[in-house]
Amino acid sequence: NVLILDFGSQYTQLIARRVRELNIFCEILPFNDLPSDLTEYKAVILSGSPYSVRSEEALHPDLGAIKGKMPLLAVCYGAQYLAHFFGGEVAPSDTREYGRANLNMVQKDPLFESIPENSQVWMSHSDTIKVLPTNGVLLASTKDVKNAAYKIDGELTYAIQFHPEVYHSTDGAQLLKNFLVTIAGVEQSFTPSAFVEETIADLKSKIGNEKVVLGLSGGVDSTVAAVLLHRAIGTQLHCIFVNNGLLRKNEFQNVLKQYEGMGLNVKGVDASDRFLDALKGIDDPEQKRKAIGHSFIEVFDDESKLITDATWLGQGTIYPDVIESISVKGPSATIKSHHNVGGLPEYMKLKIVEPLRMLFKDEVRRVGASMGIDPELLGRHPFPGPGLSIRILGDITKEKVTLLQEVDAVFIDGLKEFGLYDKVWQAGAILLPINSVGVMGDERTYEKVVALRAVASTDGMTADWVHLPYEFLMEISNRIINRVKGVNRVVYDISSKPPATIEWE
Ligand code: XMP
Repeated sequence: NVLILDFGSQYTQLIARRVRELNIFCEILPFNDLPSDLTEYKAVILSGSPYSVRSEEALHPDLGAIKGKMPLLAVCYGAQYLAHFFGGEVAPSDTREYGRANLNMVQKDPLFESIPENSQVWMSHSDTIKVLPTNGVLLASTKDVKNAAYKIDGELTYAIQFHPEVYHSTDGAQLLKNFLVTIAGVEQSFTPSAFVEETIADLKSKIGNEKVVLGLSGGVDSTVAAVLLHRAIGTQLHCIFVNNGLLRKNEFQNVLKQYEGMGLNVKGVDASDRFLDALKGIDDPEQKRKAIGHSFIEVFDDESKLITDATWLGQGTIYPDVIESISVKGPSATIKSHHNVGGLPEYMKLKIVEPLRMLFKDEVRRVGASMGIDPELLGRHPFPGPGLSIRILGDITKEKVTLLQEVDAVFIDGLKEFGLYDKVWQAGAILLPINSVGVMGDERTYEKVVALRAVASTDGMTADWVHLPYEFLMEISNRIINRVKGVNRVVYDISSKPPATIEWE
């Protein structure tokens, strides 16, 4: 296990990603939350930070138990931190030190094994290290940065001014591997099947013979979480899959069948009318989300009461949500609103079990694949909890939902048919609250407009519209207008996020 101490850099998660890609398990903890017992950690990495070590508010944890006692790699702010607080000097730099640079090795070292001279690295800092800390040994420089990499003589302490975790540092992954595997001796044993095995054993001993309730959504996370739990405790797991009436066409029946085929103990609850009732007359997006959230809790509560003696609530929470909730809030920290159903009524008093809380999304997919879950299910686009309600601008009626389900199905089936589905991160149709004039045959029409949206993204935080082929858009537009009664115009959304968002509401 590797510990990454977070000083609030926007790249901290990326360090964790790169380490995990080496099949090495790692955890991110905020700089001010150092565990008292460090024995389970084999190495520590200090992240970058938006702060300056020279400022009054410099983040200043006590590294006494770490520095010189175990392998330590300090990145960017970390490197400056070691210089500033351990006998060196940090000052504002005279030249800009952002972007591309090339490493010139000053001394041969295991840190640079298999990394060529002039290797491209990525810089992003405004302070510079003028004097190395006590016992510092210079390892590499760049054209503008003399002290780009150093180590501390007699310790397994390394420091680098550049960011090995970003894609533009060409040999960054190799450098992390050199530090973790060659220098720190960490094993590369964190594989999907090892995770499955360990997690199942862990769940078995934690849950014993108690019962777990879990809400399935049809999405990747809740499904993989359910399968893991099912492997561990079998029929003690009770899954509830709620139809809120705002799912895609035939989604409820199809996914329910799929779950049953996987051997899951699942109850499908069709609560469409209850949700539609709660949504009646509401056109404000946040009010819609609230109404749906409340209805979900009511339905889930009613259903879970029927499962007598359940003591656990299973959830498909994944690592980015966990990191977000514990992260250092620096001046550049991004704020992401939490979309997951939060909080069940107090009186339910269920203990929470979250088997995926240490995994990133792509790791969840790989774990799912290693357990034999259908690749089609694992490759599904994300779909928002409030479903089609936030894709129907204005108030919601059953007729509008049915109409949008038809349009959406034509679009999504078309993407699959044309081999485009996997090239898109998320796609859907939006029903606009306006009518437009058209002509069909000899008749004037005055019908609905729908927008199509398809985006490329990695995490939904930023996104770009996908350049779908014109021929495809033409075909889909024809199909929608010909097949879906009530629609006479189709438009394609060409806005990126930011400044737009993925959903229209
Ligand atoms: P935006 O529209 O914020 O969407 O760019 C980013 C991602 O989040 C999804 N999304 C939601 N998911 N409940 C959810 O479970 C919500 O209220 C919600 N709003 C947006 C959206 O589909 C996209 O993947």
